[in-house]
Amino acid sequence: AAPATTKEAPAPTDNKKLVVGFSQIGAESGWRGAETASIQETAKNDPTIELKFSDAQQKQENQIKAIRTFIAQKVDVIAMAPVVETGWEAVLTEAKNAKIPVILVDRNIDKKNEDLYTTFIGSDFVLEGQNAAKAMVEHLGGKGNIVELEGTVGASAAVDRKKGFDDEIKKHPDIKIVKSQSGDFNRATGKQVMEAILKSPEGKNIQGVYAHNDDMALGAIQAIEEAGKKPGSDIKIVSIDGIKEAFEAIKAGKLNTVVECNPLLGPQLFQAAKDLKAGKQLDKWIKSNEEVFSGQKAIDALPNRKY
Ligand code: AHR
Repeated sequence: AAPATTKEAPAPTDNKKLVVGFSQIGAESGWRGAETASIQETAKNDPTIELKFSDAQQKQENQIKAIRTFIAQKVDVIAMAPVVETGWEAVLTEAKNAKIPVILVDRNIDKKNEDLYTTFIGSDFVLEGQNAAKAMVEHLGGKGNIVELEGTVGASAAVDRKKGFDDEIKKHPDIKIVKSQSGDFNRATGKQVMEAILKSPEGKNIQGVYAHNDDMALGAIQAIEEAGKKPGSDIKIVSIDGIKEAFEAIKAGKLNTVVECNPLLGPQLFQAAKDLKAGKQLDKWIKSNEEVFSGQKAIDALPNRKY
């Protein structure tokens, strides 16, 4: 045995952290805030990860700039939540040429650019729209006029939630979508748009509101109350996301159904980044599992909601 005084050479270790650059869309909704927190906290608690975080403040041009910066910094992996589906070809080709893998988080890009990313981690937005429509049909008893508050124009979450919902509603001839307008996934715009709709001729005879996210639904609820009507009973409300405030609105009888969309994607993102670096092949779509909440089920779930 070696004498006790001899110092052993440290075992060779690769102490280099895995550097991930993440381009976030902004902070338009409670859901988005929860996603940002999940990604930042997961990175903070993992000593093997270095996160470079960039907030694009809802602008695609800022996301493109951030991705170019990540390429110049030679990060190991680029992750992004693309604000809209189109317009990524040039910058993602630059990432590909620099041999930096790209992970899409929560929103997708144009199908024709599938070769420019390794995996998409997120929800089935078409299914969310279908589930929202099924709940709405039930609340309306198969008959009524609906307002649709759409998300950001050109965002995959808005395009697919509209498709899923509208196609399902078409199966019910006595239900009509009488107005469909973007509220840009935020509460203030959702409220403004709903106020204007309630003053329009179509707005006088509305029995349902479908909002592509909870924040717009919560804005619409305010507008409906200010117009002297009862959200949840005079006008049924269905939305997507599942933030705590939406569950509280269900408990208060002002919202009827929330279709869950999971924003807690931090653990999956960094696991995927590590797997990529280890040379593993990833599924093209790492899908989230989500539920639909109405009535007592929502009230029972409220204390355990994580976002
Ligand atoms: O892409 C997911 C959507 O974006 C969420 O539903 C919404 O709240 C967010 O802004």
